[in-house]
Formats: sequence, structure tokens, C-alpha cells
Amino acid sequence: MGLLEGKVGLVTGGGSGLGRATCVLAAREGSKVIVADIDEAGGKQTVAEVEAVGGEAAFVSTDVADPEQVKAMVAATLSQFGGLDWASNNAVGGAGGFHALHETEDHTWRRTMDVTLDGVFYCMREEIPAMLERGGGSIINIITASVSKGEAMLGSYIAAKGGVDALTRTGAAEYSARGIRVNSVAPGGFNTPAIARYFERFPEDRERTIAQHAMRRIAEPDEIAQPVIWLASDRASFVTGACVLADGGINVNSHLL
Ligand SMILES: NC(=O)c1ccc[n+]([C@@H]2O[C@H](COP(=O)([O-])OP(=O)(O)OC[C@H]3O[C@@H](n4cnc5c(N)ncnc54)[C@H](O)[C@@H]3O)[C@@H](O)[C@H]2O)c1
Repeated sequence: MGLLEGKVGLVTGGGSGLGRATCVLAAREGSKVIVADIDEAGGKQTVAEVEAVGGEAAFVSTDVADPEQVKAMVAATLSQFGGLDWASNNAVGGAGGFHALHETEDHTWRRTMDVTLDGVFYCMREEIPAMLERGGGSIINIITASVSKGEAMLGSYIAAKGGVDALTRTGAAEYSARGIRVNSVAPGGFNTPAIARYFERFPEDRERTIAQHAMRRIAEPDEIAQPVIWLASDRASFVTGACVLADGGINVNSHLL
């Protein structure tokens, strides 16, 4: 029997990278999945990959920065699959690029906050009542291994993820007694088409990125999806308010080796 047999889950940003890997692994473990994304082609591709492993999924077009669309996303989950047991708030977005703080423009800051921080708040606000209705659930927010140390040139992204980290622990404090566990996963670098394209353009950054990890490699998305699925499952029944580091040792890396 799979880890998520009979459960219903929802993954934002399910149309690419970690979100897609989470949907496919969840389906392998017996969960039905709602794939929510702003990118219809990517989302539908994920649905096809879920079906290819014998799972059941549906795509719901969603911009997580829009509270009305987030409300509709959870309503669609309930009408399609009859409830919600777990959700991974994974979508990330913003204006992109690397900017020092004093050169960060309003629109860069604003869009990053709208999608990456406000989006998680809107999602939690809709997911929690659906899970309370079900008698409990599990929320897994995706942050980043750099959240506690900061990251040069990525101020708006790191600030948004710091907010998600705080929302995660606040959610755990408020809802654990009512059966909803709220945790985060903090990934190190992992392989996505966007990162592969970036490394092709800036090969010297590939070496620098790999050297940040004590394991001297970046991950495949499936290696990050594994702890997400574990947190979603009843195996993690006493885990709440935690941050699972899946960072290949970024946080223990030493310059002496
Ligand atoms: N890739 C890495 O190395 C890395 C490292 C640390 C943390 N993370 C985190 O992991 C998570 C997944 O990252 P990824 O690399 O798989 O991302 P990705 O860019 O491959 O996928 C992100 C998905 O989010 C969707 N999205 C963007 N804006 C949206 C919006 N407004 N509403 C709904 N969906 C939207 C995109 O269409 C895309 O499908 C993110 O939270 C990211 O911050 C990634």
C-alpha cells in the first residue's frame, strides 16, 4: 500500500520542477492530485505524467497571487475529488534576475511578494478550512536552504521565503491541536530546466553552486519530493512546525575541505 493511499492532495506550481515531481510521486504513493499552475501546458503535461504511472490528476489553472483564483482552486479540488488531505505550496514567481537591495525596483519586489509570499498565505487561508472539514491534514510549504543565512542579489526572494517560514510555524502553532500539521521543506539546489539553461549560459556558476553543497552535487527534483511526500503522509504523524532541510549539506559545508 502506498504512503498516501486514498488521499487527495494539491500542489501549486505543479506544472514544472519540484511541483511536477511531487505530483508524480504522490500518485505513485496512491494520492489523487490537483495540479495548480499559471502555466496550462506545463500543468497538463504533469497530469499526463501522473496518468502514465496509473494515477488520477486534474489541472486547475491558478495564479496564486490572486485570492479569488486560489479560492476557486480549493473549491475545484473539493468538487473534483471530494476533500483535501494535503497540500504543497510550492509555486514560485517574480520578476526574475539578480539585484542588489539598493537596485531592486518596486515591481521586482512587489511581484515576488505577491506570488511567493502572499500566494502561500492565500493558499493556506483556503486549504485550512477544507482540512478542518476533513478532520485534519498536512500542509508543506517549500522554502529554501538559504532562508536563515540570506542570499546576495536575491533579497526579495529570500525575504518572501523568510515570510513563508514564519507563516509555516505560525500555522503549526494555530492548527496542530485541530489535526493539521504544517511544515516546510528547505531545498538546496536541484535540477530544473530553468537551472539547466542558466548553467549553460554561466558555466562558472555551476561549479560555484555545486561547491556550496557538502555533497558536491545538486539534487534531482525527486530527491526533494521524497520528504514532501513523507510530511504529507501519516508516517510524519508527530511532525509539525518543522523545517526539513534537503540541502545536500549546504548548512554544514566547510571551506576547509
Ligand atoms: N530549483 C532550485 O534549485 C530550488 C532551490 C531552493 C528552493 N526552491 C524552491 O522550490 C520550489 C519549486 O521550484 P522549481 O525550481 O521546481 O520551480 P520551477 O520554476 O521549475 O516551477 C515553478 C512553477 O510555478 C509556476 N508559477 C509561477 N508563478 C505562478 C503563479 N503566480 N501561480 C501559480 N503558479 C505559478 C510556474 O509556472 C512553474 O510551473 C519553489 O518554491 C522554489 O523557490 C528551488
